[in-house]
Amino acid sequence: MTFLKTPFGLFFFLALAVLTLTVVLKKWHFGLREEEAFGDDAPERNRLLQQLQERHQELKQLYVTSSEFINPHLSVNDSVFYINGEMSAGNTVTNETEIGCEELAGMKAVDFLGSGYTKTVLKVALPQGLFVALKSVNHQGTDMRMCMQDFKDSQSCHKLVSFKLRKEILLLQRLQHPNIVQLKGQCQDSVLVGGITAILEQGMPLQMIQLLQSPWEERFRVCLGLVRLLQYLSQSPLGSVALLDFQPRQFVMVSGELKLTDLDDASIKEPACQEDSDCLLQFPLHNFTHRCSPSRICKGLNEMRNLYNAYRYFFTYLLPHQAPPLLKPLIHQIMNSTGDLKQSINETLIAFEEVLHMYQSGQHLENLPPFITRDYAVLKGMRSVGNMEYRCWPSYNQQGCVLSVHSAREAALICSSHPQCTSFSLSNERTWTGRLLASFRSGFSHLVPDVNSAVYMRRVKASGAML
Ligand SMILES: Nc1ncnc2c1ncn2[C@@H]1O[C@H](COP(=O)(O)OP(=O)(O)O)[C@@H](O)[C@H]1O
Ligand SMILES: [Mg+2]
Repeated sequence: MTFLKTPFGLFFFLALAVLTLTVVLKKWHFGLREEEAFGDDAPERNRLLQQLQERHQELKQLYVTSSEFINPHLSVNDSVFYINGEMSAGNTVTNETEIGCEELAGMKAVDFLGSGYTKTVLKVALPQGLFVALKSVNHQGTDMRMCMQDFKDSQSCHKLVSFKLRKEILLLQRLQHPNIVQLKGQCQDSVLVGGITAILEQGMPLQMIQLLQSPWEERFRVCLGLVRLLQYLSQSPLGSVALLDFQPRQFVMVSGELKLTDLDDASIKEPACQEDSDCLLQFPLHNFTHRCSPSRICKGLNEMRNLYNAYRYFFTYLLPHQAPPLLKPLIHQIMNSTGDLKQSINETLIAFEEVLHMYQSGQHLENLPPFITRDYAVLKGMRSVGNMEYRCWPSYNQQGCVLSVHSAREAALICSSHPQCTSFSLSNERTWTGRLLASFRSGFSHLVPDVNSAVYMRRVKASGAML
């Protein structure tokens, strides 16, 4: 004890006491925090850690698989990136125009675009005058809520749900197609955007009711876009991709084109099998079995699953209704073969492209009366003003009657079938298939010169009033 009486001994003793107290207090503090989250439930904590580990593994595997495609000589260690201690979705596809945290600094959220179980999407105006969609973790979503119910640890739950968004970002980098929403960048900044955020091209959530009321040509465009997308997914750089959560709400519309936005439930695995009965596809109204390939994999099952989902969620509602009469047999064939999964996605795409070709070339109009335009006086280089509009369905314009036509002959036939129609005009405006937009009217007050327009006046009806 004489040691304690020396100044050095006293100092040593005090230092030791402070150190011990700090360690005890820290242990007590952490113990309390852990108990708050898990009580004394170590199995729960292990379950959370295991889930985090599984998601991490899945992302890492996906990263390696997709990097091997880009660079077959890459090793596992080379291929995993970490940002702030977190595995990043990788940056092998970055380019100079990519938007990052820096560009988001002066952003303004202008609208709420949508949310689902996992993510929430905001429309944001960037200082450069660009509008983008920001996708981040939905704190009120089912995924977060369920995790909090089970584990009561907001930080770990946020991390767990973030893995889904990281997976989506990685898939968006690897899978590029006109019918997949474009990834414009990403930002990982908890102060600025609250964690990992995907910066996407902005679309409009898909509204099936609205689409059901739109012209057949626009509905066909959506179905064709979907078939082109599924054909790409069936032989993508990552292999055959299945969309496990296939619903209209996983898509958005960008300038009339359908685009897939929700990819976190995509799978690039096809099930292993011993016999054909292992390759079972179950839907509420229909079951299918597929062949078990010699390599003991249900090869092609992902493609079938996607195609049948396209049939039941999209084609049945959008394709047959109001199809041009002469295209109906072809459409009917498509409906039968996809509804029974009798054709592959490649064959389905060929059938769709054939419909498009016939529609664009006007082959489906061969039976038009040849001289119907004789009933009309043509005024080329003119546009009508002070128009009396009437409504028709399904019009491209809510107030009037604007329909797509292959030629003046088809427009004349339509005008002759509408009792109110006394004239129609054609401008150089075209639809996505290249067809002309014709505007039908019940009258107008006068004409003005316009080199891009022609007015067709119905002789019988026009004789008394305007000629
Ligand atoms: N780029 C986008 N532009 C406009 N709306 C979008 C965009 N991406 C997603 N949305 C909307 O946000 C909703 C939620 O996004 P989603 O990725 O489907 O999240 P979750 O995985 O939670 O279902 C979608 O249903 C869609 O309506
Ligand atoms: Mg979704």
